[in-house]
Amino acid sequence: MFDNTHAHITTWVIGIILFFTALYLHKSGKKKAMKIVHMTLRLFYLLIILTGALLFWKHQGIYPMQYGIKLLGGLWVIAMFEMILVRTNKGKSTGIFWAQLIIALILTIYLGAWLPIGLWSMV
Ligand code: HEM
Repeated sequence: MFDNTHAHITTWVIGIILFFTALYLHKSGKKKAMKIVHMTLRLFYLLIILTGALLFWKHQGIYPMQYGIKLLGGLWVIAMFEMILVRTNKGKSTGIFWAQLIIALILTIYLGAWLPIGLWSMV
């Protein structure tokens, strides 16, 4: 968990799947099922942050600024997941949060891949 990114990747991939599943359930009118998936997703937020924080703690000394931006980008993605789901539930507009989610996801995945640990290291 400290030296490879497998656990971290597993948690955020499951997180993305749960996010889209919750939106699909909302569209299908399955409110109770959506609530359960949303609660599960919240548990995965913690796992994403925990696995990311363990990697950060061990390796950030190499590129402190890039690691810092990666951490903030990851938190930004999670915040946008939450804003979109809560506002969708309330019937409020979500356009600006979708735009932010796309930017945050591109930034976070690009930086994650650029940084030296892991499957797609580009350094
Ligand atoms: C949904 C949100 C997130 C996504 C989509 C994401 C995505 C990624 C990706 C694509 C990688 C590269 C994996 C590899 O090359 O094998 C990575 C690595 C990493 N992530 Fe995240 N991440 C997220 C959240 C976080 C959070 C919240 C933190 C910090 C608390 C974090 C810290 C890290 C660290 C430290 C690495 C290792 C970078 C390296 O040294 O190569 N991530 N992440």
